[in-house]
Amino acid sequence: MDWIDMRSDTVTKPTLEMRAAMASAEVGDDVYQDDPTTNRLEARAAELLGFEAALFITSGTMGNQLALMCNTRRGDEVIAGAECHIVMHEVGAAAVLSGANIRQIPYENGLPVPARIEAAIRPDDIHEPRTALVCMENALANGRVVPLDTMREIYTLAHAHGIPVHLDGARIFNAAVALGVDVKELTQYTDTLTCCLSKGLCAPVGAVFAGSREMVERARRYRKMLGGGMRQNGILAAAGLLALEKMPERLHVDHENARYMASLLQNVPGITLDLDSVEINMVFCKIDRELPFLEALPERMREHGVLIGGYEGGEFRFVTNHGVSRKDVEHTVAALQTVLSE
Ligand SMILES: Cc1ncc(COP(=O)(O)O)c(C=O)c1O
Repeated sequence: MDWIDMRSDTVTKPTLEMRAAMASAEVGDDVYQDDPTTNRLEARAAELLGFEAALFITSGTMGNQLALMCNTRRGDEVIAGAECHIVMHEVGAAAVLSGANIRQIPYENGLPVPARIEAAIRPDDIHEPRTALVCMENALANGRVVPLDTMREIYTLAHAHGIPVHLDGARIFNAAVALGVDVKELTQYTDTLTCCLSKGLCAPVGAVFAGSREMVERARRYRKMLGGGMRQNGILAAAGLLALEKMPERLHVDHENARYMASLLQNVPGITLDLDSVEINMVFCKIDRELPFLEALPERMREHGVLIGGYEGGEFRFVTNHGVSRKDVEHTVAALQTVLSE
């Protein structure tokens, strides 16, 4: 069965061109830095993203944790948004891998507030942990896009206190497309970056960690420590290169489909959403029903050939992606309407 899969943009599959490039990729042992395709991907990623160097890694989670490992000592504190991926979805890795504490800063209207971040920076006091890193995320896991001015403010204030900044840019290209700017306009406001290749960009595996040459060499050692020395990974990097070169230019289609979906959902009785909050490929909505109906909704949608994520935080999330067309959006909304009217 051809499912309409709106659970996430991580479900995207490699394009035919990616599969062909993977089949013919030139490879070597990447732990010896001998893999020509991986070397090309890393050089190109550094250039496109505006950094001295980049490292091909297994996942976005690994990139964020490498940033924490590179920048902290045991007992240090990392400032991060209370709802960000590092806090919510990385299995408590900061405590396990870095021995770091995360100071969680609540957003306001779904966005980070620079003044709150500045207020959370610790003074030089023997009783307090050392603030070692400020983490940003863009686009945010809640589907919002952090404006450039806010990023600049956070970067400037962190540096004024001598604190480096890491950006979880799992969806950095979605943020750049939404803001209508080159991705380097955003990445200028961070010291290190995680950028995922296997979400809306369709690579089957992988992400990139980018930063100064020194930081990337430090991350290379930690990547090895985590079991991320991947040998002939040029086969994966070949798809990653195409993800970087070709896929960002089509992300606007996913964004348009998300807004289209939100505009249709707005007219469905019992569904509420904020159209203005639909900035990338994600639509969040509330459904005016009780449990257990809400918990059963994903199963009911499966009967109509649609996969959606579970009920979480009082909301449902729909993610448009390379495998979802405008017609699929219409089918999904119609299916939802049918299920709600039964
Ligand atoms: C904002 C954000 N950061 C990081 C990640 C982690 O990426 P991965 O699933 O490749 O570990 C995700 C995954 O969805 C994400 O949404």
